[in-house]
Amino acid sequence: MKPLFTRPLFAYVIGVLAVIILSGTVLSLVMDNYIVLISVLLAEFIILLLFLLHVYERHIKPIKKATNTVEEIVKGNFRARIHHTSTSHVGELIQKINKLARNLNELSIQEQMHSEQLTTVIDNTEGGLVLIDSKGYIHLVNRKFISMFGNTMKDYKGYLYYEVLDNKIIHETVQKTFLYEKSVKETFTNHNGNEKQYLEIVGAPIFNERNMLKGAVLVLYDITELKKLELMRKDFVANVSHELKTPITSIKGFAETLLENDMNDVKVNNEFLEIIYNESNRLQLIIEDLLTLSRLEREDFPLVLNKININVLVDEVMPVIKQKAMQKNLKISLSLDEDITFMADKEKVKQILINLLDNAVNYTSENGEISLHITSNDKFVHIKVSDTGIGIDEKALSRLFERFYRVDQARSRNTGGTGLGLAIVKHIVEVHEGTIEIDSEINKGTAIHIYLPKNISN
Ligand SMILES: Nc1ncnc2c1ncn2[C@@H]1O[C@H](COP(=O)(O)OP(=O)(O)O)[C@@H](O)[C@H]1O
Ligand SMILES: [Mg+2]
Repeated sequence: MKPLFTRPLFAYVIGVLAVIILSGTVLSLVMDNYIVLISVLLAEFIILLLFLLHVYERHIKPIKKATNTVEEIVKGNFRARIHHTSTSHVGELIQKINKLARNLNELSIQEQMHSEQLTTVIDNTEGGLVLIDSKGYIHLVNRKFISMFGNTMKDYKGYLYYEVLDNKIIHETVQKTFLYEKSVKETFTNHNGNEKQYLEIVGAPIFNERNMLKGAVLVLYDITELKKLELMRKDFVANVSHELKTPITSIKGFAETLLENDMNDVKVNNEFLEIIYNESNRLQLIIEDLLTLSRLEREDFPLVLNKININVLVDEVMPVIKQKAMQKNLKISLSLDEDITFMADKEKVKQILINLLDNAVNYTSENGEISLHITSNDKFVHIKVSDTGIGIDEKALSRLFERFYRVDQARSRNTGGTGLGLAIVKHIVEVHEGTIEIDSEINKGTAIHIYLPKNISN
């Protein structure tokens, strides 16, 4: 009975009492029997009280519950529901409120999902992102940005961009974006720990629906790899020019001398002509190697895959090598597994063997030994070319496959090397999805291992 005497009902109870007293007074004028009068009044009181209780249970209590639930919903608790069974108008209201809460709950779940998706996208984009409002306050930085510039989200969010970003180019980009109200692009270098990064920054203005500037978004791309490639390309052009310049200068010089002098001294003439011939041969070799490399580097390089027998290949290659080796009195040892067959580009594999064996001969002193060892398992063919030559310094190993890299310039040139042999080998191995390893020790010798897959996916 406790709810009966809660505040609103208490007033009704007082009202009921007033009605009873009033009707008691009126009835007492016409009724003499007090017992009947009191019984009638008591009955009247109980009926009115029961009626009140009914009104309370059916109308007031559900409305109170509804008010509490709506309050919860206003606070953001969309899971609040009213549990009350009623078929009256109040019941309808309760159902509507519950439906509203359900809809709001669904909307809030959807919104949460969208915002999570957006955060995932923002955090996983390849570029660094910064969102700045029209007053210059940072609203958002993504994970990539933090990985580029350090610190944490808290160190940026809510601060003025020029207070927390210590970079002149970033400041200029923001200022220009706000000033010109269009996209601005700049590049700069950033030191991230010990690493030097090349970054490209794009500032883009953000407008609201009334076309007023609301802020700017900065996108930062790491272009270090691109810069490296650009540098490599520049280096390569410089190297090629340098490599071509030497033989061309020599050819031109000797040809000029021949033209200027009277051509009576046949011996000198022949000597000069021979130099010109050798140098033009050298030019041809460099150009052929460069063409081979550029063909191998093309994305759509066509590998002519055939089932090849390595023993047949070795038979084709060995005569040339043997001849060169004989001139230096080198011992050649061969060991091949029986009938190794696999899928590969025959001419390219032949080129690997020639380049490696050629190096073994060139970089091994007289009376040394070179060996070719080929084995296979069900996955790989393992080609090992070793020598007892001059060996390679450990520091030079990592650069060995760079174009035009030679440990000893003069020595390589004297042997007719172009400095491109190993670069070509590396590319051929790569297009065959194979791997290379080198073991080398100064003055002891070198062993190069090539692993080519037996079943290439191409
Ligand atoms: N078997 C080897 N022993 C010692 N040094 C080698 C050997 N093979 C390659 N090198 C070193 O690697 C360099 C690059 O080899 P390569 O690309 O074939 O160019 P090249 O032989 O034309 O100079 C050579 O100049 C040489 O210094
Ligand atoms: Mg070579």
